[in-house]
Amino acid sequence: MSQASAPGKVILLGEHAVVYGRPAIAVPVAQVRATATVEPVPPGSGLTLVASDLDRTVHLAEATPDDPLAAIAFQFLAHVDLDDLDACVTVTSTIPIAGGMGSGAAVSASIVRALASFAGAELSLSEISRLVFEVEKLHHGTPSGIDNTVVVYERPVYFVRDKPIETFAVREPLHLLVADSGIPSPTRKVVGMVRKGWQAEPVRYDFLFDQIGDLVEEARNAIEDGDLYTLGALMDQNQDLLQEMGVSAPQLDDLVEAARAAGALGAKLSGAGRGGNVIALVEEELADEVERELQEAGATRVIYAVV
Ligand code: MEV
Repeated sequence: MSQASAPGKVILLGEHAVVYGRPAIAVPVAQVRATATVEPVPPGSGLTLVASDLDRTVHLAEATPDDPLAAIAFQFLAHVDLDDLDACVTVTSTIPIAGGMGSGAAVSASIVRALASFAGAELSLSEISRLVFEVEKLHHGTPSGIDNTVVVYERPVYFVRDKPIETFAVREPLHLLVADSGIPSPTRKVVGMVRKGWQAEPVRYDFLFDQIGDLVEEARNAIEDGDLYTLGALMDQNQDLLQEMGVSAPQLDDLVEAARAAGALGAKLSGAGRGGNVIALVEEELADEVERELQEAGATRVIYAVV
């Protein structure tokens, strides 16, 4: 038997602009994970994938290449030059689905890692990330690659599309509350909507993306200096620009306001938006209070992560 897992993630700053070549910062959230277990089956049975949370079982021999669950297995087998594998993969996940926390990327990453270990194939992190990225493209259309990068490398990343990943020092621990609005965030749709906006008004959107890119640079410095007050203010400014881009939602704005009113240093949506999660940067001693207020304001689940 082989088992592997991958964490969830949140984008601290820079979502959407990152699709257009600006930098973004993302961190893993180890409290929630996808876990894949691979067990042998009798010879000739082929590969089966079981997603118990989703109530789905897929036999690879009958699956289409774009099947959301089978796609990563196809990628892996092609990469290691195998036609099929006699194995059963079971995947479970505690990462909210469609919440902007990279659940799809983490599920793929856990599957490819567990399959590699089962098949005795040694894959580097960059190979795993690339295979997961191929599947992200099927699901999300034009992803930047940030989700697969942060869940595979499992460390804070400063990410620029098509550039080698950069990591950085986190001088003071970041206490984050990740509050789920309970509304699914349709990444593909929202990314497509931003693209339409950019095509219709390129100057306006490029200016928004540039401003977000500048905030990300400043945020990296603030994290390296341990200046959490500045980091919080930068997150707030990023939220304003995301609102201007039209990717927030009233429920997300309510959660952001509730967190700020309860004393968060900064708060914003995280991920594609229109639903999904809000993140709040808090001082440790205020975490309980901010969490309570987020729940009061309608959060369906709040995850407390220290990065
Ligand atoms: C999704 O987690 C983040 C987006 O920037 C899309 C992407 O980077 O692929 C909205």
